[in-house]
Amino acid sequence: MTDAVTGPVTRAPGEALRGYAASVHDREVFGPDAETLPHARAAIAGARRVVVLTGAGMGAESGIPTFRDALTGLWSRFDPHELASVEGFRADPQRVWDWYAERGEGVRRAHPNAGHEALAAWARTHPGRMCVVTQNVDDLHQRAGQPDVLRLHGDILGRRWLDEGRCRERTPCDITAAEPGRPPRCARCGNLVRPGVVWFGEALPAAALDRAQQVAGACEAMLVVGTSGAVWPAAGLAGLARRAGATVVIVNPQESEIDAQAHVRLRGTAAQVLPALLART
Ligand code: OAD
Repeated sequence: MTDAVTGPVTRAPGEALRGYAASVHDREVFGPDAETLPHARAAIAGARRVVVLTGAGMGAESGIPTFRDALTGLWSRFDPHELASVEGFRADPQRVWDWYAERGEGVRRAHPNAGHEALAAWARTHPGRMCVVTQNVDDLHQRAGQPDVLRLHGDILGRRWLDEGRCRERTPCDITAAEPGRPPRCARCGNLVRPGVVWFGEALPAAALDRAQQVAGACEAMLVVGTSGAVWPAAGLAGLARRAGATVVIVNPQESEIDAQAHVRLRGTAAQVLPALLART
């Protein structure tokens, strides 16, 4: 729709950002929650459609590490080119497979936190009004009972063939029958199984991205929770919503790269702020 970028990239299209920072003219309400919560509440209560854009900070209080937090983020300890690209997987399939398997185990052990629960409860009491667009590859929104979730970066518990369409056999290879291994391998054609996440340089799932852009452009309020705003095209959804007239509320204990898009910034964590924001709204 607006952003030409379809794969996850960390450099924001400069034009989009510059154009945006210049257009921030209406009331900006930053500061302690006691003052800013009512503004955010009013925006959500008055919105017929609310979109929630979530990032890794959403799951931090469930024990799932973020990517860019200085000390605890995965990318402060691991190289994304080695662990989140097709080239990295081809170079060392076992290492990459094991890394995702371990992260997948962490996801299986984790539970939705009070932030996930608050979003799901609001969606249940306001049917058809909330869509969650997540960059997260866990299933915590779904396990909290969130009805409408779009996953932009895939599913860490899912599986795909490394080389889609490689098999020339009449009956396509069955991924569930791949020979167990690290990674599993097709006994017929040798294709490798890879985790079902989107890696850098790959296209986002087109249907999810299209719908995310459509709902972002049609909502009256957007809640942006726990994302650094460093990865596009997901980061561009906040600007898209704002340009289309939505009130943008950012929930994050730290600054993010898309703070210029916010009408209201709530400085706190997902599990603290979302229950306070959404109860009785
Ligand atoms: P980041 O790690 O870049 O950012 C996490 C954000 O969450 C930071 O802004 C933190 O300040 C904030 N945060 C930390 N704890 C929080 C809490 N308890 N409550 C609320 N916010 C908190 O994660 P993402 O923005 O999701 O890509 O990163 C985007 C993409 O980069 C990911 O989807 C992944 C990664 O490479 C792919 O997997 C393709």
